[in-house]
Amino acid sequence: MMTEKSWETVRVEFEDGIAWVVLNRPDKRNAMSPKLNAEMIEVLEALEADDRCGVVVLTGSGESFSAGMDLQEYFREVDGGPEHIQLKVRRDCSLWQWRMLRVYSKPTIAMVNGWCFGGAFTPLVACDLAIAADEATFGLSEVNWGIPPGNLVTKALSEVVGYRNALMYIMTGRTFKGTEAAAMGLVNSSVPLEQLRAATVELAKDLLGKNPVVLRAAKLGFKHSRDMSWGQAEDYLYAKLEQSQFLDPERGREQGLTQFLDEKRIRPGLQAYERPVPTAG
Ligand code: COA
Repeated sequence: MMTEKSWETVRVEFEDGIAWVVLNRPDKRNAMSPKLNAEMIEVLEALEADDRCGVVVLTGSGESFSAGMDLQEYFREVDGGPEHIQLKVRRDCSLWQWRMLRVYSKPTIAMVNGWCFGGAFTPLVACDLAIAADEATFGLSEVNWGIPPGNLVTKALSEVVGYRNALMYIMTGRTFKGTEAAAMGLVNSSVPLEQLRAATVELAKDLLGKNPVVLRAAKLGFKHSRDMSWGQAEDYLYAKLEQSQFLDPERGREQGLTQFLDEKRIRPGLQAYERPVPTAG
């Protein structure tokens, strides 16, 4: 089913609690233009308020995830233009690719179906989880056309990939496959392309079965505490935990404790508590 609102460069489809957000410029290998960046801000804002979306899956149409920033529309056409336009174009890019996505209120999965270059690494890493096709081709191609990686690509890479691999690919622009992306931790796993959608749905369903308030607190706690000292993190993470209990309408903690300690219905090490309300979707 399509949303009521449609966008020119992004397609959104809903299916059983999953919002499929498809970068949709296949002829340009889903390169991210200023228009696409502006539309992605609107898409993420709309999905935040849409009950049909319990999990966001970010992917690309055709044979690409995304060929990175649009070298024509993001760079050449903006070069030398008015400063306020240059600033807006850059701000829109950052806004959805990491400022919104990295701390998005709902779980996010990047499904890397094909070409994934340069600027595409930022939203890839900003998503909570990622699955790639074995066949997908990744590369930090910036060095091949004369710039160091732009925006937050380098920072994003350093969050998930070790020192040697990061510098190897930043400095050589060599490509690597989905299998290697999984081995180095850039994505959680890779599967043959024909199984990619099913594997992503399986992962999304797992997330949809969990308490969304707790999931939000858990992922934000992880992401924010990475930049804190242990002492600050202790205080912040306890605050986050208590916030999630306060905000949780289904009182998951009490459900979990009762079902394990009193009713002996579940073993939390092996399964989630039985939720009293329907899941999203
Ligand atoms: N910016 C702008 N246009 C792009 C683009 C990008 N990043 N990537 C692809 N395109 C356009 C091409 O210009 C071409 O447009 P045209 O048909 O109007 O001439 C079209 O997409 C198809 O590209 P092509 O190179 O013919 O496709 P391919 O399947 O043979 O190769 C790639 C795919 C992704 C390997 C190749 O397009 C590429 O190297 N793209 C640039 C990757 C890059 O350096 N990204 C920048 C990261 S910041």
